[in-house]
Amino acid sequence: MADAGLPLGRRDPWTEPPMGLLAELTHRCPLQCPYCSNPLELERASDELSTAEWCRVLDEAEALGVLQVHLSGGEPTARQDLEAIVAHARGLGLYTNLITAGVLLDERRLQALREAGLDHVQLSFQGAKPETSDRIGGYRGGHAKKVAVGRAVRAVGLPLTVNAVVHRQNLDELEDMIGLALELGAHRIEVAHVQYYGWALLNRAALMPTREQLEAATAIVERARRELRGRLVIDYVIPDYWAKRPKPCMGGWGSNVLNVTPQGKVMPCHAAASIPGLTFASVREHPLRWIWQESPAFQVFRGTDWLPEPCRSCERKEIDFGGCRCQALALTGDPTATDPACELSPFHRALFEVASAESTAPPPPFVYRRPMREAPALGPVRLQA
Ligand code: SF4
Ligand code: FES
Repeated sequence: MADAGLPLGRRDPWTEPPMGLLAELTHRCPLQCPYCSNPLELERASDELSTAEWCRVLDEAEALGVLQVHLSGGEPTARQDLEAIVAHARGLGLYTNLITAGVLLDERRLQALREAGLDHVQLSFQGAKPETSDRIGGYRGGHAKKVAVGRAVRAVGLPLTVNAVVHRQNLDELEDMIGLALELGAHRIEVAHVQYYGWALLNRAALMPTREQLEAATAIVERARRELRGRLVIDYVIPDYWAKRPKPCMGGWGSNVLNVTPQGKVMPCHAAASIPGLTFASVREHPLRWIWQESPAFQVFRGTDWLPEPCRSCERKEIDFGGCRCQALALTGDPTATDPACELSPFHRALFEVASAESTAPPPPFVYRRPMREAPALGPVRLQA
């Protein structure tokens, strides 16, 4: 079965193994960040995979060659069986990374997770000041809890990465966020400008940084990298809208990572469900090996043979694979188009103009991420070439 209207990138089964599996254990979350990467239509708790189902997914993932499991959500610690899932992964020899907002954790639970075999914690912060952090996360008292949890992560002997998602409403706290990571004893901080999918695309005008903010942030990161060499690793992700070339999204479609949603749909990336015409198989109905190696949704944009011009004849096509399919769809209406983040895309100028206009206008109020009876509708975001 080929998905309607889209090219089939590969016909022969893909035998390279995935490196990582992103396990979205639940879409439940006490925070309401307006840039959440979850889809606008959140999956219900009653549909979530059971403990036994997740353990079977991990068995199949290990057999397929997966090495790392990223336990994510929503908020993965909302699952009371997290320790059992971690222990199962550890039993299979898989590296486990917990991606958490932290507010449901305490030292006792962290100790239990460590004893179950957890390898690493990635803790998100929404700002450096409590009032900023709590406002952006939509959770009063959240910042103080996160600071306590950061300390507890180190107290139980787990390595810590601070995840600082930055945008126009918290970039003036970037230096303090780096300072906070140091104070907590983090080994690494990931300074990630918001990427505009799902809730973030809905809130783009409230989050888009100005060019000047981006340049100031880049200078701060470069200086901190020099000054903190050997003490803190700083990863840095810039916003596509101000870039000249796209990022190699997910390292290439279906190349490195499997994304399993709370109810077991398997996708090449967290936003892939936004592409109409693709059907994502479920671990409840298909073996993970078949989904990875042969399912049409994984084959459709694999490799570079399907790429249109200008990517087809571009020397960077094995580096960025034409950019992000989900972003191309959202901004041009065509998931096969060159990502508008590329300056060779006919939509690039329009992207730049949107970033300029939105970042300098007064920010609209946030639409906070929360389950709604009806998913909020995305306004017009299509660009004109
Ligand atoms: Fe990448 Fe395509 Fe742009 Fe070349 S033309 S840099 S392959 S997105
Ligand atoms: Fe889906 Fe980039 S987020 S390909």
